[in-house]
This record gives sequence, C-alpha cells and structure tokens, in this order.
Amino acid sequence: MSVTVSMTVNGKAISAEVEARTLLVQLLRDELELTGTHVGCDTSQCGACVVHVDGKSIKSCTVLAAQCDGAEVTTIEALATGDTLHPMQEAFRTNHGLQCGFCTPGMVMSALDLVANNPDPSESEVRDWLEGNICRCTGYHNIVKSILDGAKAMRS
Ligand code: FES
Ligand code: FES
Repeated sequence: MSVTVSMTVNGKAISAEVEARTLLVQLLRDELELTGTHVGCDTSQCGACVVHVDGKSIKSCTVLAAQCDGAEVTTIEALATGDTLHPMQEAFRTNHGLQCGFCTPGMVMSALDLVANNPDPSESEVRDWLEGNICRCTGYHNIVKSILDGAKAMRS
C-alpha cells in the first residue's frame, strides 16, 4: 500500500508517494537524495541517521516517513551556508572530531539538539547525551571536545 506524505525538509515543502512501510531515512536518502544522513545499523543503535523532526533529534531509521507527515525535518545538508560551515561543523573540523566521518552527521545533529536545550553543557552531560551515537573511529574524546567547542562558538 502506498501513501502520500508531505513535509518540509530543510525549509522546502516536499510531497512524495511512498510505500507505507518506508522509513524516514529511506525517504530522505532514496527519494530526496539527501545522503548526508547515514545508515549505520538500521536497528536504532548507532545514531548515524539522526535528523531533527520538529526541532528534536530522532533516529530516522526508527520512524516511518508517514509518521512525519506535516512535520518540519532538518538534515545535515541544511547546516552550512554555502562554503561556510555551521559553528558545530567547524568545531568538528578544527578539533579533529572525525576520522572516516560516517558517524559525523548524526553526531552533529544530536549535538545541536543538546545545545538547543543546554547551551553550556558539561563534558559529562555531552558524554551522557551521546549514549545513542556510536563512533567506530575516534574514541569519542575529540567528538566531546568538538561539541564543547561548538557550543561555546554558538554562545558567542
Ligand atoms: S542507522 Fe539509525 S540508529 Fe543506526
Ligand atoms: S569518525 Fe568514523 S565512525 Fe565516527
């Protein structure tokens, strides 16, 4: 059975006819070609697929596209302005918060939700928040530094 879903993605209204079982991440990647959102596990564990739905970070492999009908969705593609990275992206770059970069979109989108609610998080609050985001490369230290630095840049 197919359904029509309509939502705003990165500020643009979209409408698509998809199978009812289509996940939000499949709509983003396969239909809209927004491949910055990654699929690392497909089982809600790794956080590579985190996007914002109505301002909150969610794992897009865990919700159906149809559940997001009418929602405002933001993906990693919306953050940079031309060649200028968002301060959180820039912090990941300058603090070497990534190696292969596979987890990075989800890390950045999770970090932005944290900072939206807690603009000056402690290191332990960052580490707690990242519980649902897995990185296989960096050992997390530089990711935590990046988020603290990105939060600081966003405060100033
Ligand atoms: S792909 Fe969604 S949590 Fe891993
Ligand atoms: S930088 Fe490679 S998985 Fe995190």
